[in-house]
Amino acid sequence: MARRPQSSPPVLPGFAYVRPLGAGGFADVFLYEQDMPRRVVAVKVLSADAINPEVRRLFNAEADVMAQLSAHPSILTIYQASVSSDGRPYLATEFCPESFGDRYKQSPLALPTVLDAGIRMAAALETAHRAGVLHRDIKPSNILVTQLGQPVLADFGIATSLAAIDDSEQLVAMSIPWSSPEVVTEATTGSVQTEVWSLGATMYTLLAGRSPFAAPEREKNTRDLMRERVVKAHYTPLRRPDVPPQVEQLLARSMAKDPAQRPQGMLAFAEELRWVQQELGLPLTSIEVANHAWAASPTILDQDDRRRGPVVSTVLEDSRRAARAAKRNPGASRNVDEGIVQARPAGAWWKGGLIGGAIAGVLIAGTILALVLTGVIG
Ligand SMILES: Nc1ncnc2c1ncn2[C@@H]1O[C@H](COP(=O)(O)OP(=O)(O)OP(=O)(O)O)[C@@H](O)[C@H]1O
Ligand SMILES: [Mg+2]
Repeated sequence: MARRPQSSPPVLPGFAYVRPLGAGGFADVFLYEQDMPRRVVAVKVLSADAINPEVRRLFNAEADVMAQLSAHPSILTIYQASVSSDGRPYLATEFCPESFGDRYKQSPLALPTVLDAGIRMAAALETAHRAGVLHRDIKPSNILVTQLGQPVLADFGIATSLAAIDDSEQLVAMSIPWSSPEVVTEATTGSVQTEVWSLGATMYTLLAGRSPFAAPEREKNTRDLMRERVVKAHYTPLRRPDVPPQVEQLLARSMAKDPAQRPQGMLAFAEELRWVQQELGLPLTSIEVANHAWAASPTILDQDDRRRGPVVSTVLEDSRRAARAAKRNPGASRNVDEGIVQARPAGAWWKGGLIGGAIAGVLIAGTILALVLTGVIG
């Protein structure tokens, strides 16, 4: 939602400006071409009036957090974070040609697309929550679509640094349609349960083609009236013939006024969505959640940019691949209870090495024997 004129694109060494991509409440986004490696990138620049030393400190700390979280397949990939020569902090990220914010305004999305995206976003958020990070601004325009057509979550934590700009008034107002009653009434600035609400409200928006508390009459959608309706939390059914009651019930529960009635965390939400996929005979989306050791990484938990933690490997395994491996090798590491793929346990690599070595030995011996028998050797 652009509310101010777009600023000029900064001069960035190694990047050639191409065109504007859009403007949000606190930042402008531009397309650049990077020289080395040659690729297009989206550069998000904090607007000059939003910058003060505290914002800059938080921006740096959050760039670290986002860079590490962006190893997740459903989180926007960050290439670089820096400050332009004119003093504006910026992030260079993967370029995404589309966003779900644009898509739902054209027409409501198909149910299988929304279920798949919901599971991917829930898995990304579960990973962040395990790392002690809340997103705080989950909404359709922050779900971008990559060049490969995959939905990814953007703007992780940016909302937190931007909250330091002003009082929270403007920030809350901007995302009211997807904010929970406890956020709107400022009883909390955010929790896992408020994020469950926001993801439910986002999925509702994609299916309805409008946010859950938007009235058909434009004049009834002022900030105050919208706030009142969010606080009442009266769920209006979608009434789409292709949306079965279990989806309607799950969305209604994710937007329950009482946080305790909502699915208890993003993993639980993802699992319920997967059950729906199963019942509808749809392809199952894997729930990709980083293991606990990764999520507890000191880099992630260290929010203070003066004490940056060490770099920690963040390789994730695909659930389906891991499940197949687990079938072949019952000792492998799938935590079935949680539906979470854990990294291969330490020590497994040498078993693979021994087996590989043995097979290679047999092949070499067989080849030598064949050559001897056919008279090529000796
Ligand atoms: N990585 C990206 N690739 C392509 N377009 C992007 C990218 N990131 C953001 N955009 C586009 O830039 C515009 C502004 O994005 P921005 O995140 O600043 O605002 P927003 O999410 O729309 O709103 P808000 O400021 O309320 O969060 C949006 O239209 C968005 O689709
Ligand atoms: Mg955004």
